[in-house]
Amino acid sequence: MKKILVIHGPNLNLLGKREPEIYGKVTIDQINKKLKEIAAKKKVTLEIFQSNHEGEIVDRIGKAKKTCAALLINPAAYTHTSVAIRDAILATDIPTVEVHLSNIYSREDFRHNSLVAPVARGQISGFGLDSYVYGLEAAIKLTKAR
Ligand code: DQA
Repeated sequence: MKKILVIHGPNLNLLGKREPEIYGKVTIDQINKKLKEIAAKKKVTLEIFQSNHEGEIVDRIGKAKKTCAALLINPAAYTHTSVAIRDAILATDIPTVEVHLSNIYSREDFRHNSLVAPVARGQISGFGLDSYVYGLEAAIKLTKAR
């Protein structure tokens, strides 16, 4: 069975309580449950990882080279700052879908630039939980194209 790595970046462990007017009330557990339901129906397995630490995320992407067929990532604040995560995706050469709960382009200027987007196959931003749902569907298709 094909495996997809799902990475949630910093502060996403706080979803539900964190700025609900922006991110809604959905919790990371609810997101993961939904993703697992979809994965089960589509016969793929998920490896889900959340970290507040850039290096841990880099390490996890590096390990995925051998084991995972695609990456679904919400890099959170690292979207806008992390050359290291961008380089890890390039080095691993793993088909990547970037997702955001909020529409990063309708927010502060510093959120308008993603360092990850140019090395991802695509980006989905602004649909809350559904960003992950659409993102997972895209990632599943990418595993089939491989
Ligand atoms: C986010 C958007 C980022 O700008 C922010 O730093 C986050 C969450 C989102 O899902 O909307 O932590 O990635």
